[in-house]
Amino acid sequence: MASKSFIKFNVNGRDVEVPFDERESLYDTLRNQLDLTSVKKGCEVGECGACSVLINGRCVDTCIYLTKWAEGKSIVTVEGLKDEKGDLTDVQKQFIKEAAVQCGFCTPGFILKAVEIVGDNKPYTRDEIKKLIAGNLCRCTGYMNIVTAIEHAIYNNMKKQGKDYKLADNYKVYLDQGEEAKNKMTDELLLHQEAKDAQVVKEIFNNK
Ligand code: FES
Ligand code: FES
Repeated sequence: MASKSFIKFNVNGRDVEVPFDERESLYDTLRNQLDLTSVKKGCEVGECGACSVLINGRCVDTCIYLTKWAEGKSIVTVEGLKDEKGDLTDVQKQFIKEAAVQCGFCTPGFILKAVEIVGDNKPYTRDEIKKLIAGNLCRCTGYMNIVTAIEHAIYNNMKKQGKDYKLADNYKVYLDQGEEAKNKMTDELLLHQEAKDAQVVKEIFNNK
């Protein structure tokens, strides 16, 4: 029978020492020992990103990360996110503003990935954002609003630092012209996304 050990790490700003099994994934330790239920179990094979947390500032899939590797590290889950005033972070506010959430199962993972992306302080384009979130899957939203939320969080972060960041032209239009233009643009993009999804499905079947 495997023996229980103890491990120390910092989670959401708090030093903790918890018992764990040598073979245990960090996912299980965070949920079962520390009640951090924002960490979701999806695929369990490192494909969907639902179980992501930030470890020393980088997103990690905890379903394929052994707890013992976390010794002395700093872990952040969505429960630990807040801005300097203790409010929601701008990334979370942008996800709400852009309605980048449907069932919400994937959302904690996407939020943490977005925090990592914005924290890079780089002027990522929409295409680059799409590549950067490739390790996070969402079955509901069609991704467009998620990409927009991240793009706007980058925009706000750059603006705060007095740096230029060019939003994709289409999105700049709706920011300047208000809600009606935004809704029109979102509808057009959703149509585009559906067409893209249909193409992807076709390609999958053709390759079989
Ligand atoms: S549950 Fe960990 S990547 Fe899907
Ligand atoms: S909002 Fe449902 S899986 Fe992403």
